[in-house]
Amino acid sequence: MGEEILATGAGAEQHAVDQQVAWSARGNPAQMALLECSVFEVFFGGARGGGKTDGMLGEWIQHADIYGEHAIGLMLRRTRTELIETIERSRAIYSLLGWKYNETDKMWRATNGARLRFAYLERDADADQYQGHSYTRLYVEEIGTFPSPAPIFKLMATLRSSAGVPVGFRATGNPGGPGHQWVKARYIDPAPLGNRIIRDEQTGLKRVFIPSKVDNNRHIDVEAYKQNLRASGSKELVSAWLDGDWSVTLGAFFDCWDSKRHVVRPFEVPAEWMRFRSMDWGSASPFSVGWWAVVQDDFETDGRVLPRGCLVRYREWYGMKPGQPNCRYHSQPVQEDFLVLFGECILIHDGEELPLCQWDLVHCPPGVEHVFVGAGTGPCGVLMIGSRRHDEVHYPVNELAAKYDASVKVPTDDPAEAYADWRTEEWRPAANPLPGSSAAGGR
Ligand SMILES: Nc1ncnc2c1ncn2[C@@H]1O[C@H](COP(=O)(O)OP(=O)(O)OP(=O)(O)O)[C@@H](O)[C@H]1O
Ligand SMILES: [Mg+2]
Repeated sequence: MGEEILATGAGAEQHAVDQQVAWSARGNPAQMALLECSVFEVFFGGARGGGKTDGMLGEWIQHADIYGEHAIGLMLRRTRTELIETIERSRAIYSLLGWKYNETDKMWRATNGARLRFAYLERDADADQYQGHSYTRLYVEEIGTFPSPAPIFKLMATLRSSAGVPVGFRATGNPGGPGHQWVKARYIDPAPLGNRIIRDEQTGLKRVFIPSKVDNNRHIDVEAYKQNLRASGSKELVSAWLDGDWSVTLGAFFDCWDSKRHVVRPFEVPAEWMRFRSMDWGSASPFSVGWWAVVQDDFETDGRVLPRGCLVRYREWYGMKPGQPNCRYHSQPVQEDFLVLFGECILIHDGEELPLCQWDLVHCPPGVEHVFVGAGTGPCGVLMIGSRRHDEVHYPVNELAAKYDASVKVPTDDPAEAYADWRTEEWRPAANPLPGSSAAGGR
């Protein structure tokens, strides 16, 4: 399908030079890729100002041209104010095609009968209103403004066509925002450079990330635009916007977290240091408990100085839900010990299942592959004592662990790769291991 849409609305195959072009992707390789892409789920994301919104609007013209009255689209944004901006841009393009806009329904009707509705979804529960609807195209603008993917998944269920139109989901987004982490985990982490099709393990549906860069956009003064952006946000945010860099931990609670700086080799915690425990109820993981020590005076360890007043988390404990693994199946060069404090779980240990209940104590020698999976009917709490560094863990492939979604698909020593397709809930396993000494003993 071509990429140039003529003002006659007659389709991209017409190329009369005297006709006004309503919209064209020509000159923008990312928009061209979007128009040519037939994958079910597309994330058109990255740097700001690359032409993502225009790309969505142009993609709809192409879809409408092909499927006419059977093309039914829904374009969503988080808030009404944001939506108005997109509607305004759609007026500039679609009016040239002779399409009619109905203000009350916020709906464009093309001359061939294709319909595109605009709506906003301020609350996640608003997604329920669309139950039972059928769309052939679902567009979500700035998907990172959705803190959780739950409403998006609900809406995806509306993609179906009784006329056999191939349906598709198209979303745009920039780094940052409340949904940064889940968007990154779903679309960026599996193939950070993009343009590689990923197959969803559960549904078998395909998705792809098409990166959009501001330098792709010849319709704006790129240098002036970059200058304006620099004045509009924090240094990290602006550089993420300019480069489409999703690796920044924007909006995360610890946006300064850096494993190289914040993880230290185990050391003996001096007896006089004050210690305390913290406890946090979670939604995806039932709870998390942390054991902490407060550095009394500047303290040298592992060639570094921990400043006075710095907190050292030397032990942690995460609850598990029945059927869910606590982390990815792994091994490490140091030993660990596990004590089941309550509930039931399964320890997959060197490729074998070991059912455990309260007060079972297991010693895991160095190098033994293992993972815990919650069992029984309620949460399970396991006290895990050990020490290891972030860069010392190996994640092998294991069929038994895969049964519980605990195995990686490709062996790796890189935790970021191991957790790239980890479940998309907000909860993640602890940034194991956190610093401290198991030898110091708990108090
Ligand atoms: N193919 C095109 N034809 C005409 N104008 C375009 C085209 N692509 C982008 N533009 C213009 O470039 C500007 C930036 O594009 P757009 O708003 O689509 O970028 P964006 O990636 O959505 O930006 P943001 O990240 O801020 O949402 C807009 O004024 C838009 O109309
Ligand atoms: Mg936009």
